[in-house]
Amino acid sequence: MKPTVPGPTYREMLHPEVLPPAVRNRALAAGSDELDPIHLFNITWRGPNRQIRHIVLPTELTGVPANIIVMVGRNFPSGSHKVGPAYATLMEGELAGEISPAANTVIGPSTGNFGIGVAYISRLKGYPAIVIMPEGMSKERYARIRQYGGELDLTPGSESDVILVLERTEHYKKDPKNKVLAQFELLPNYRFHRFVTGRSALESAAGHGNGRVAAFVSAPGSAGTIAAGDEIKASFPDSVICALEPKECSTLFNNGRGTHRIEGIGDKMVTLIHTVLTTDYVMQIHDDDCVIGLELLERRRAMVESLTGLHAGALTGIEGVFGVSGLCNIIGAIRLARHLKLGAGDNVVTIATDGFDRYPSVLADLAQRRAPIDDAKLRAWFETVFRGGTSADILDVRPPAEKQRLFTYKEDVWSQFGYKHDYLEQMKSQSFWDAEYNRIDGIDRALADSRNL
Ligand SMILES: Cc1ncc(COP(=O)(O)O)c(C=O)c1O
Repeated sequence: MKPTVPGPTYREMLHPEVLPPAVRNRALAAGSDELDPIHLFNITWRGPNRQIRHIVLPTELTGVPANIIVMVGRNFPSGSHKVGPAYATLMEGELAGEISPAANTVIGPSTGNFGIGVAYISRLKGYPAIVIMPEGMSKERYARIRQYGGELDLTPGSESDVILVLERTEHYKKDPKNKVLAQFELLPNYRFHRFVTGRSALESAAGHGNGRVAAFVSAPGSAGTIAAGDEIKASFPDSVICALEPKECSTLFNNGRGTHRIEGIGDKMVTLIHTVLTTDYVMQIHDDDCVIGLELLERRRAMVESLTGLHAGALTGIEGVFGVSGLCNIIGAIRLARHLKLGAGDNVVTIATDGFDRYPSVLADLAQRRAPIDDAKLRAWFETVFRGGTSADILDVRPPAEKQRLFTYKEDVWSQFGYKHDYLEQMKSQSFWDAEYNRIDGIDRALADSRNL
């Protein structure tokens, strides 16, 4: 089946330099015209210089000797790496002959960035798109979706009410014209992150410290990104994979549920595509620690520099690079490095899914909620965010009883949506995931054969 508008293979997303030079050069030159479909070929962690975009945080800031390496997602087209799984899911559907712009509307269940990615990819490929998401997300998210021509269908509640989004999605599924890019369920999300993000993470660590990855830390929403951990473990079996979640909604930690402020993560469920097997630890982090951490790094850098002994301007390069979940990942990476007593030369890799452009309204809200924000308060916030945390918030989920608890949670959620016991049982074996991963070569060949680049 011929794709509607050709885009990259998985391998080309990892290594865009293998694209035909004319295509690669056009993609690099496309610049600020976001809606030029050539931008599909810019879905990659790599910058124009071929390096994986990442930042190593100064140890003065982190307070730990290990390298905290943050991969930067905001330079992906549409402003977050979530466009990758959105593209991969649509691309695989097109290749399978299941979806075409003349016949179908694309449905994107989301809490924001995946929805933005769906609206964006749909626009580039000529599909109408409807994004289903909670009504309580940042207003910057809705604006982006509308800007790309996506229609919004809002469900009650906020981040942790994603189950309502899934229920609304079931309603759309009844009309065969609607094709759902189901990020919580479909394995292109797993494939994209295990292959593209996982190998990019390995490469970003290769240039630092001992070149290995001691730990990978990710706060799951769909649990796509954390699949990078499967690839990291394939290279470094001793590496530790840690899932983070808001203390206010500690589903993986202790089946807890609640509302919270970290948009994009903590969705009150074990998603279908969460491997579970390779997750070693779960850590809880207070949601407002992430919001005040963003305030410190985005608005109070001069003060943070002076508190940590960094020279003036040392943190200028991080301006605009992080969102709230990025702060969650940074805080989690620091606390895990401390908990595991990692030393100089050890690398902890994590992710900044999106940048600050989606969060000015969140900091405006913080300014109102926590006023007055004076120097004493900022100093206390710094201590809490960058030097705080307790081992009591870190749970080892390697014991079989913990794995079983997570599998049971998964089964409880997904049997409601029609998934059969047998399929869910297969997911308890790593061979299920490896087989899904091993489909990448065949998919890439089929895509390459169907294109005329
Ligand atoms: C801002 C943000 N951070 C983190 C995540 C979690 O990523 P994943 O869905 O791959 O687990 C998302 C997902 O939408 C997100 O939008």
